[in-house]
Amino acid sequence: MSKDRILIIDFGGQYNQLIARRVRECGVYSEIMNYDSADIKSIKAFDPAGIIFTGGPQSAYLEGAPGVDPEVFEMGVPVLGICYGAQLMAYLLGGSIGTAPTSEYGRTEVCIDDKGGILRAADDSNVCWMSHTDYISETPEGFIVTAHTDECPVAAMEDRKRGFYAVQFHPEVNHTDHGSEFIRSFVLDVCGCDQSWKMDSFAETQIEEIREKVGDDKVLLALSGGVDSSVVAALLARAVGKQLTCVFVDHGLLRKDEADEVSAVFGPDGPFELDFVRVDAAQRFYDRLAGITEPEAKRKTIGEEFIRVFEEEAHRIGTVDYFAQGTIYPDIIESGLGKSAVIKSHHNVGGLPDHVDFREIIEPLRMLFKDEVRQLGRELGLPESLVSRQPFPGPGLGIRIIGEVTADKVKIVQDADAIYREEIAKAGLAGTISQYYAALTNMQTVGVMGDFRTYDYAVALRAVITSDFMTATAADIPYDVLQRVMTRIVNEVDHVNRVFYDLTSKPPGTVELE
Ligand code: XMP
Repeated sequence: MSKDRILIIDFGGQYNQLIARRVRECGVYSEIMNYDSADIKSIKAFDPAGIIFTGGPQSAYLEGAPGVDPEVFEMGVPVLGICYGAQLMAYLLGGSIGTAPTSEYGRTEVCIDDKGGILRAADDSNVCWMSHTDYISETPEGFIVTAHTDECPVAAMEDRKRGFYAVQFHPEVNHTDHGSEFIRSFVLDVCGCDQSWKMDSFAETQIEEIREKVGDDKVLLALSGGVDSSVVAALLARAVGKQLTCVFVDHGLLRKDEADEVSAVFGPDGPFELDFVRVDAAQRFYDRLAGITEPEAKRKTIGEEFIRVFEEEAHRIGTVDYFAQGTIYPDIIESGLGKSAVIKSHHNVGGLPDHVDFREIIEPLRMLFKDEVRQLGRELGLPESLVSRQPFPGPGLGIRIIGEVTADKVKIVQDADAIYREEIAKAGLAGTISQYYAALTNMQTVGVMGDFRTYDYAVALRAVITSDFMTATAADIPYDVLQRVMTRIVNEVDHVNRVFYDLTSKPPGTVELE
């Protein structure tokens, strides 16, 4: 792999994993090394084809600011500096940096002066994402200015002879037009990397690393059946096999047949040889939820009960050395934990049990994005039905049944939801909608079926289009599909005589109803 990999030196920037992702998208392996472990010996030992310096919140000229051994510039290896990394490069090579008269944040028009280097794909005036208070006021010897803005005389600079490139803006974010092409040009044209890296190489590397770390010890995974924890299960099954125990708690609030589907893949009859513990705790949850109608109280009750069940199972297993979880990169961002995440609340179960005795957490997906996790799941042989599963909240159907949860209502919503999903799939719409489900309202209305009066529940259908789930619009599902779903639900699901389609965007609504 040597000579075809990129070393990313992390100075504490916000978008570092995005840089790694952009490099992976080129089919090239990359690793992120924190600046304080990136001494010159470690850098040389990595034997990179190119080095990228990330952004960071500090001022490179201040004492104690994150830095790098200047010998890095004598290795004959191309370097790309981004934001703080660009300023650090300028500073170490004899240019001048300082506080900019005007800071630039967000969308900025950058005037491209020279497209002979990594900016060849740029528009003459290229929209870039800026986030800086310091700037390069004078380039080091040997550099030419390749881009500027009204406020920033050196928005990009290059010393093509020595292979040093610097951009003040962030090419790794989507908001920078052609940004990924700039990174691609550095990685492929300048560093000359082979595009030989694939997701299966990631799996192999992770499996090796996990094996080495875990040795003969035991690993515990709380398996929810969602994409992330399922992919971790498949990865760990390959890495440590029987040393892994997966605890799958069926809280009785899963979608129709979901518990059986998860058990079929990870249980004794599935392709993975691992200890799979399925805990059927539905009644226990229904008992605890009886009489509770307030959404937050429901969520808390479900979360707490989950932990209790999980704790009991963990105790039965005995001492656990490692606890694995399916944390992915957006979870880390959303929790505001950055690279220093050590022990975080499990985003699906609402917090780790206090007294499960484990030495360390294993989070093999922490540098991946959702679509990459899906790709990895496919590489590991997980069925498409699991891999392409849409997000499902930890509290499950508990927050899709308005008001009190009962076993009967769970059955109604499971059946209605299964019909909805089936019809959406039949209409070829499944891949076009970000998330969709049926919920049970706590409203009963009068209807007529046959010649009889009915007084039954109303089901609400929800479907949203979103990329980040922070904002969303209702999906524009063709009317004939909605009508088919309505007809089937009222005909096939007992105690439902009315179906609504929820048109609300987020905000003001949320994706889930509770
Ligand atoms: P909301 O309802 O907040 O949902 O607009 C945004 C996304 O988050 C999911 N969601 C959850 N996921 N535990 C989870 O793991 C939860 O408690 C939870 N609540 C909401 C929701 O399904 C949607 O994808």
